[in-house]
Amino acid sequence: MPTTLITGGTVVSSTGRSEADVLVDGGKIAAVLAPGSVLLGSDLKSSVDTVLDATGKYVIPGGIDAHTHMEMPFGGTMASDTFETGTRAAAFGGTTTIVDFAIQRYGERVMDGLGAWHEKAAGECAIDYGFHQIIGDVNDDSLKAMESLVDEGVSSFKLFMAYPGVFYSDDAQIYKAMRVGAGTGLLTMMHAENGPAIDAMVAELLAQGKTDPYYHGVARAWQMEEEATHRAIMLANLTGAPLYVVHVSAKQAVEQVAAARNHGQNVFAETCPHYLYLSLEDQLGAAGFEGAKWVCSTPLRSKQEHHQDQLWQALRTNDVQTVATDHCPFCMKGQKDMGVGDFSKIPNGIGGVEHRLDLMYQGVVDGRISLERWVEITSTTPARMFGLYGRKGVIAPGADADVVIYDPNGHTSIGVGKTHHMNMDYSAWEGYEIDGHVDTVLSRGRVIIDDNQYLGSKGHGQYVKRALSQYLI
Ligand code: URP
Ligand code: ZN
Ligand code: ZN
Ligand code: ZN
Repeated sequence: MPTTLITGGTVVSSTGRSEADVLVDGGKIAAVLAPGSVLLGSDLKSSVDTVLDATGKYVIPGGIDAHTHMEMPFGGTMASDTFETGTRAAAFGGTTTIVDFAIQRYGERVMDGLGAWHEKAAGECAIDYGFHQIIGDVNDDSLKAMESLVDEGVSSFKLFMAYPGVFYSDDAQIYKAMRVGAGTGLLTMMHAENGPAIDAMVAELLAQGKTDPYYHGVARAWQMEEEATHRAIMLANLTGAPLYVVHVSAKQAVEQVAAARNHGQNVFAETCPHYLYLSLEDQLGAAGFEGAKWVCSTPLRSKQEHHQDQLWQALRTNDVQTVATDHCPFCMKGQKDMGVGDFSKIPNGIGGVEHRLDLMYQGVVDGRISLERWVEITSTTPARMFGLYGRKGVIAPGADADVVIYDPNGHTSIGVGKTHHMNMDYSAWEGYEIDGHVDTVLSRGRVIIDDNQYLGSKGHGQYVKRALSQYLI
């Protein structure tokens, strides 16, 4: 097995940092050693196959993006990244594992939906991948099938309180599915927005001629998110199911999560970089049809209401535990433009799988979060939350050698034609400048990115069976 020594860097974990060399043997981390260590009488540098010099740089566990939608059929079209293009873009950004959402559609069997996702991903990925299961049709058959998900390495499922007629579950269905979650240990992930009320408001706005992308954000008001988050928390409380609320954007929803946690309930929250930086006014409200680029659900929030500061604060205090991208890219041409003249026909989603580590590192530079917290929210907690920890999310002997060498003195300019390898004809982050740079990325010991070059290969990425969540209060 080829050996690699990452030397001279600062190894950063969720709990601290130290100057250390990292010895990689094959696909695994073999040792984390004092700098310049001698092993069995020989100087390691001269006895390994490859030396990677990380002097002045951070050595961190590869990013885990626990919320992506590669080639997902949605909104009358298909998310524009395939597993091949999307995982390659993720690798460029220092993400070495994604957890994508397999879909059980209405009328479909759960295991058929999961099987279809395996078919899409197998042999295509640049980095390792796991699956959550969307349950889009809660019925007796699917409730039974959910009990076998853990054996398939799928330890979490997502329900939708939004999108009536597509993925929507009513309260009785949510109650029943959460009972299974409580009984099996599967983590319930919730899209918490009041879909029926939103649809009524959308119809009202359209009837008034309010058809611009901006009104997507008006219809999906924070009250819709707060109410659904509270309802999900109460149903989880009743059933005893642990609950993970995805893509939280409203400060009022964060307050609901925080209150439940203060009562000792196993409730967790994820946010996304776009909710931390972008707004209803500046992006969704951009001139003409431009705002369509940022149509996603939950929506970008008003900057006048200070949601962003509250989200950053919650990241610091651990009321929000993870940052994922909810990568769901659509091109403007031929996809987003389906909603010209009717915002409700704009496919919902933003692509960003490539930029999560950089955007969150900017939070370190700006004094929003610590270096250790950066590693925790982008890698270690997602690993623990989704049953990957030990193998992923940590630099320690026996772990997969998924490692990023990050240069705090480097620079990253984001945008189409700069750093952008996603299959999109625009960037939601066009013009963003980051005071840091992903230099080298290893996936199970193999260098797949070095100096902005892709050295990986399609099919290197393997399916990872996940254990039950190791992240309970
Ligand atoms: O707008 C979004 N978030 N699109 C992806 C699907 C979902 O609800 O996560
Ligand atoms: Zn969702
Ligand atoms: Zn999503
Ligand atoms: Zn660099």
